[in-house]
Order: sequence, then structure tokens, then C-alpha cells
Amino acid sequence: PVIRREDYLPPAWLVPEIALDFTLGLTATRVVSKLHVARNPDGNGASTLRLNGDQITPLAVRVDGAAVSDWRLDGADLLIELSGDAHIVEVETQVNPAANSQLMGLYASNGMLCTQCEAEGFRRITFFPDRPDVLSTYSVRMTGDKTTFPILLANGNCTAQGENADGSHWAEWHDPWPKPSYLFALVAGELVSNHSTFTTMSGRKVDLNIWVRPGDEDRTQHAMDSLIASMKWDEETFGREYDLDLFNVVAVSDFNMGAMENKGLNVFNTRYVLADPETATDGDFDAVEGVIGHEYFHNWSGNRITCRDWFQLSLKEGFTVLRDQLFSADMGSEAVKRIEDVRILRAAQFPEDSGPLAHPIRPDSYQEINNFYTATVYNKGAEVIRMMRTMAGPEQFRKGTDLYFDRHDGEAATCEDFVKAIEDGAGLDLKQFRLWYSQAGTPQVSVSLSHEGSTATLKLTQKVPATPGQPDKQPMPIPLRVALFDRDTGAHAGEKLVVLDKPSDTFTFDGFAKPPVLSINRGFSAPVSIDFDREAEDLVFLAANDDDPFARYEAMQNLVVQHLVTAVSGGLSDETRAAGRAAIGKAFTAILTDPALDDLMRGELMILPAEGYLAEQMLIADPGAIHTEREALKAWLGRECADDLTALHDRAVAVPYSRDAAARGARKIKNQALVYIAAGNAQEGARRALDQYRAADNMTDRQGAVLVLASLDVPEREEALADFRSRYEGNALVIDKWFSLQAGSFHPEVLANIRKLAEHPDFTMTNPNRVRALYMAAAVNPKAFHDASGDGYRLIGDLIRRLDPINPQTAARFVPSLGRWRRIEPVRAAMMREELERIAAEPSLSRDVREQVSKSLG
Ligand code: ARG
Ligand code: ZN
Repeated sequence: PVIRREDYLPPAWLVPEIALDFTLGLTATRVVSKLHVARNPDGNGASTLRLNGDQITPLAVRVDGAAVSDWRLDGADLLIELSGDAHIVEVETQVNPAANSQLMGLYASNGMLCTQCEAEGFRRITFFPDRPDVLSTYSVRMTGDKTTFPILLANGNCTAQGENADGSHWAEWHDPWPKPSYLFALVAGELVSNHSTFTTMSGRKVDLNIWVRPGDEDRTQHAMDSLIASMKWDEETFGREYDLDLFNVVAVSDFNMGAMENKGLNVFNTRYVLADPETATDGDFDAVEGVIGHEYFHNWSGNRITCRDWFQLSLKEGFTVLRDQLFSADMGSEAVKRIEDVRILRAAQFPEDSGPLAHPIRPDSYQEINNFYTATVYNKGAEVIRMMRTMAGPEQFRKGTDLYFDRHDGEAATCEDFVKAIEDGAGLDLKQFRLWYSQAGTPQVSVSLSHEGSTATLKLTQKVPATPGQPDKQPMPIPLRVALFDRDTGAHAGEKLVVLDKPSDTFTFDGFAKPPVLSINRGFSAPVSIDFDREAEDLVFLAANDDDPFARYEAMQNLVVQHLVTAVSGGLSDETRAAGRAAIGKAFTAILTDPALDDLMRGELMILPAEGYLAEQMLIADPGAIHTEREALKAWLGRECADDLTALHDRAVAVPYSRDAAARGARKIKNQALVYIAAGNAQEGARRALDQYRAADNMTDRQGAVLVLASLDVPEREEALADFRSRYEGNALVIDKWFSLQAGSFHPEVLANIRKLAEHPDFTMTNPNRVRALYMAAAVNPKAFHDASGDGYRLIGDLIRRLDPINPQTAARFVPSLGRWRRIEPVRAAMMREELERIAAEPSLSRDVREQVSKSLG
């Protein structure tokens, strides 16, 4: 069944209050739910109360204290006929958390109980109008065995607790802030906390706890520091203050996504909480900081103002991603953060926009909402709000967000409400801009620059490609930051913001005796793809001179993209190949040696465009040819720049471990240099990698060394992998790395290795982190996934079919990689399609996988 945005109706009944009573058990938890229901004056007046359910049965139903039997089931939903305007409805249910392998609703993880309710998990616990526009005040009571569940947590504040004579104990929790059911949470188990406090700007003292399994507490300080920094930052940057006396974060090892912003009780995947230098890379530390910030920021953008319906998901997710991006930029390097964000957008979102699953940031329909927690809704959603900020300027934008928070506090709002508030508060006209919410597809902007007399004329043309269900598109407003460089001085006369809001437009710039060099879409001011056929010489110029760090990175990327795309299409003679490589080598050498660059930025500039991104640049891609050409260029750079690379590696190796920017930069270039050294000379690379591994006193160095060794067919590989495994035996997050380093490698036997790893005693299909560590690494590894035999496609197809009955949400996340078949050369495309058909032929597919597969087949 297809759910449509245009069919939205307000609920007939509201639930201003709910009291939940849990009798906890790992295999049987009893739930008594008491709803105060009230007729919605804005509803349709229906007498039927619809309570959603999913794999639960009503064991007893009472209305106003009396047992009733005239309820009925409609599919999984419970329907009760009510007259009058207000009642108390009680329903009893029982669930088996240990058998809940979907990890939605109430489930057991590592001996503890926890919940995940977004989007529609609450209905797996009890019957309820499980939609985000029904806001209730929650009181929760839970009783459980004292030794199995010493810690009992729910949303809000603990109001009472006590012990029973039978060895059980109980706790009562009350959350004063009305919330939708998807923000409900309960956690019970043996947990220890890292405790701290934070005093808010108005003087409220808040208790903070990071709860983990005993033994993990030494790895929680970074999460705590990040939480405190988030709370402070949101006060300073958005004027948002925390609103309870308690803020709990719990780490669980079985979790479908990254984390969840439940009111006052965030539940996290352990990988976004636990970090110390010995077991977490610099990237892992950043991810913890980013996700801790993200979930905390949801307290305002998500919880205080929630979504009216799930089509509005980007209202909270797009905005909160923007907020976490700005936070991380302020905590570290703004330039590097921007480049990383764009890299993620291009790797994950551009393929969505150009494939069969394309959808606007505010979708018009869905079958399974879990399939819409996408890079489009999250990351493109953030880019769309960032464009408003760019057009308004940060100060005016803040007036817009102030108005939004003020106007809609306590409501379930829409994306339209947000845009209107920014329009009114920031003083922008966003009439045409709203198209960014309704039109899918990455706009393509064609650029040309002509020069006559002293005037440069910039001509821009936009095209928004057709996407499924949207054949014709309107032109969108595209804000582009531009600068024109004088070739001789290497300077420009100031950056301008041009907004292309027509199919085509021209902009003139005066005062150029010679044709200037154009820097466009600086800072990636618009999430578009720029088509500008230009001389390699201009790109080398920008790679060396552009004062916008993103544009500098982009010039380097474009230089490589232009070269590799031509090479893959067979368009390079020996001579033009040599000339292309020479230009890249020149720019690369400048990056390796420029004393003015900080190492974090240098490391960023050294990264070659990903194979997936290169494939995106072609109408039909040959992944085999892309891999070969890209690897050949890497090896050439490794040989050509061998001296600079080894000098860089030696310099970085000498820097002692610390978490400051300089030392982190040293680790980044160390690992980048190692990649190129090994590509140019496997012996030298293996030797240096093993030395680096043996000398390592931190995970960044260790993982960087194993990353390089895992792709090499050398004896050092086995030593490092075996040591890595035994050294971290029992540390699930690091064993995940051990799996993904191998599955993500370019080793000649990578596919056979993955098949073997799937049989390894440490592998399990019931833990999403482990499944992703092995199989997502394989699915995004072009060498494994696109192996000419088709075995990579079969690997992922088999996985989807085996995982779907266990965990449909996670299984569905693997479908889009096969869904790319239309953009892949015909022999592979046929095999990818065949795999999708094999999945489609399964008799009882989940709604999650069914939707993705049928859309992918088209
Ligand atoms: N709201 C969470 C976050 O982005 C994500 C939860 C998604 N869960 C799901 N089952 N789809 O912070
Ligand atoms: Zn979120």
C-alpha cells in the first residue's frame, strides 16, 4: 500500500496523557497502557479510535475501567468504537524482546532491554495512534529483577523508585514535555555511567550520564566532552537551552542506525559513543562528536518542534544535520569539514538523485518509511537549508530560526512552516526556492566564460534531470558563490553571490585585461553538478591559488576527474595521457610540498575522487575500466612523487600522538602518503606499513597501516591482520574494523576472502554493525562488488535474501547498490538486474525490501 502526502488528515482522537506500566523480562515483557483519549476538535469526528499495532495482540481492553469486548482488529490495528469526547482506554500486551531481531520496538541487546521507536516501533510495544502529530505526556512505571536490570531508565525525570519483597525493584519516570510516540524510550540493564553536569545559560543544573556496559566506561570521556560542547554551542549559536534536569545517553551494541534522539534518553549505537586513542581512529572521534551533537540538537529541532507526518522528516533531519555540520566545523577545521560533507553528499546522495530511488527531500509517497531515512532527506536536506543561510547571511538566518523555534514550539510542524518562518524572519523571498523541497534530481549547471575588451561574461544554464514520477522540472534558484582570478597576480577582487533562477542567464564582470580564471560554486554553495569544460592549466592554477579551500580541493578533483573520465572512455593517446598526468603530478607535488597548507587540509587534497563518483560522471560506466585507470594513476603518482611522499611520511612518523590539530594532520598525511607509496612500490609500501603498524600507539596509525597491507599480496599482510585480531579479541567495534578492512580491500582474492569471513566464528547476521562491517564494506568496494564474474552482485543478493527475515530494515539498505544497474555497462547490468529479480522472486519479502527492489527494477 502506498501512503501519500496529499492524503494527510488530522487524527480523529488525541491522547493528551499516557501511563505505561512495564513488567520487564528478556523473553516476556508485559505492558499495560492507559491512554487518556480526547476527541480532536480539528478531526473528522469519527467515533472509531484507531490504535496501530504490529505483531502484538490485545490481551485485555478496558474503556473507563470496564472490560469491553466490542473491539476489532483491522489488519494489525486495534479499532474501538467510542461515543462522547473523552475516555480512558487501557490495553494489555506482551512482547518477547529476545526474539525481536528487527531491533524495532522493545528488544534485548547484550543482556539488556532497550527500545527503538522511530519511525513506527512504538506500535510493536503497545497499541497507539503511532503518528508524530499525536503528542502525549508520558508517565512510565517499570518493574524488573534487580540483578538482571539494576538500572531502569525512561524519558524525563525519575520521580520514584523502590524495592519489592520478591527481589525485583521498580522505578517511575515522568516526562513533562508532550511528545510523539516515536520519542518514547526505555532502557533496563546492567549499566555504569560516566557522570558530569552542565549548567545552562539560565542557570539550570543538568545531570549528564553516558551509560555503557561495565568495562566500557574508560572509553566514554570523549562522548561526554562532546555532549557538553554541544550544549554550550547550541546556546551560543542558536540560542537553544536544554529543558530537563537530566540528560541520559545509553550505548547499545545492536542498533540499526547511528543513534536516536528520544527525549532526555538518547540511545546510541556503541560506535558513536565509545572512543579512546587505542581503539578509535581520528575519524571515529569526529563521528562520535558529530552524532552526539546531532542527537542533542534534535532536542529543539525534532523534539520541541516535531514533524506533522513522516513526509516532513527533513524538517527535523535536514535541519539537524546542518546544525551538526556547523557544530563540527566550529569544533575543528571548517574547511576540512566542508570538504568531507560534500564528499559524503556526492558519494551517497548524488547516486540516489540519479537512480531509480530518487525522491525529493520531502517525498510525496512511500510504502515503508524506514526506506526514506536517506542521504537525500538528511544530507541534501541540510544543503537546502544551508543555501537559505548562504542567501540570507548567518545573522539574518538566525533571525529566521529564532522565529521558527518561537512560532512552532510544542507543535508538530511541516517543512512549509519552516520555510515560511525563514522567509519571514530572515527577510528572504523563497517562493521559487520551495521547488527544492518538491523536485528530485541534482541540477546540472553548464558554465561558459567569455572575455571581450575588459569584460568577462559568465553564462549559466541549468537543467534539472527527469526522475521517476517527475518527467518535467521547473528551473530552481541556484545560489553560486563565484570569484574571478587575475592570472598574473593570482588574486581576485572579491567574491560575489550570483543566483541562477532562470533556465539560462548571463552575468558580467568588468576590469579584466586578460581572460580571468573562474572559481565557481565556492564552498559548494549549491548542491548541483557543474559542467565546465576548461583547460587543465586553469585547474592547476586554482589548485595552487584558490583562497576558498573547498574550491581548491574541487580544482584538484576536477583535474583528476577530467583526466580519468577521458582515459576510461579510451580518449587518451600516449601523448595526451602523459600531458594529463604531468598536469596532475605538478598539482599533486604542489600539495605535498606547499608549506602554507596545514596537514589536515593537505591530507584532504591528496585524496583521489572515488570510483563511484567517477562513475557518476558517465552516462554508462564501466567499473572495471574505472578501477584500472584510477589505480594506474595512483601508482604513477606513487612513483613520480616517491621522494616527496617518503619525506612526508618520515616527517609525519616523527610526530608524537596527541589529539591536537597538528598531530591529527600528521596522522592523516602519514596514512595518505602510505597509500601512494604502496601503490608505486608494493615492497617499500609493505615495509613502511609494517613498521608503522608495529610502532603504532594509536588506532589511526594502526588502521592506516592495515588498510594498505590488506590490499597487498605480501607476507606482511598476514602478520598485521593476525596481530590486529588477537590484540583486540573481544572488542566488538575493533573486530568490526578487522572485517571491514579486509572486505574493503583491493586484494586480488577479496571476494573469496569475504566468503571466508562470512563463515568466521566472529561473524553474525544478528548484529547490524557486524553485518555492515563485512557486507557494506563489500557493497561499496568497487573491486569486490563489480567483479567481472558477477560474484559480488550474488554476494549482496544472497545477503539481502538471508537478512530480510531477520532484519528487513538493514537488509533494505543493501538494495540501492544493485539498483544502479541502468548506469553500468550492459554485461554487468544484466547480472545486477538478475540478482534483483532473484530477490523479487522470494515469496515473503518484507515491505522494506519489496519497495526498494520493485522500484529498482522499475
Ligand atoms: N532520528 C534518528 C537520527 O537521525 C534516526 C532514527 C532512524 N531510525 C529508523 N529506524 N529509521 O538521529
Ligand atoms: Zn537525526
